[in-house]
Amino acid sequence: MFLVGILTVSDRGASGAYEDRSGPLMAKIIEDRTPWQVAQQSIVADQIEVIASTLRAWCDEGLHLILTTGGTGFAPRDVTPEATRLIIERDTPGIAEALRAESLKVTQHAMLSRGVAGIRRQTLIVNLPGNPKAIRENLAVLLPVLPHALELLSGNAGTEASHRSV
Ligand code: MTE
Repeated sequence: MFLVGILTVSDRGASGAYEDRSGPLMAKIIEDRTPWQVAQQSIVADQIEVIASTLRAWCDEGLHLILTTGGTGFAPRDVTPEATRLIIERDTPGIAEALRAESLKVTQHAMLSRGVAGIRRQTLIVNLPGNPKAIRENLAVLLPVLPHALELLSGNAGTEASHRSV
């Protein structure tokens, strides 16, 4: 059983000016398509220290996976990748490369996401873009490899089950 955190990064969502649809969508996909538990779900503004400290706290709590949504683009306040880089210890470029490569088959705008992925101790953190369509498309690429990724990270890989997709 892996524990998952879902962090929406959005000024308008955090202020209540806009209803966050992306965080709840990610939580529903995780709950419907995996046996894992969504242990944390929150919305924060596009502020680098707030994003980084939330990620750091969730890693310290022992979450195995944190998915962020939003703040990966070119707008001046888009700083989710910078906040993530502040706290990761090991880069996992293959995940970000795969998400962009597959997303480019759907929209050229995929090249505008600067999302990164990486590991802090036992936690894998992946930045996804903000819109619900992008979340569905990115999770379709990411979910099949996550069981093996998380089992490797927890030191339990090597069984046949660890290669099975969700
Ligand atoms: N990736 C996929 N798969 N589908 C999308 O619709 N939208 C793109 C891109 N990645 C998109 C996508 C757009 S329009 C932008 S601006 C960037 O993600 C960054 O989005 P963000 O600033 O909400 O994080």
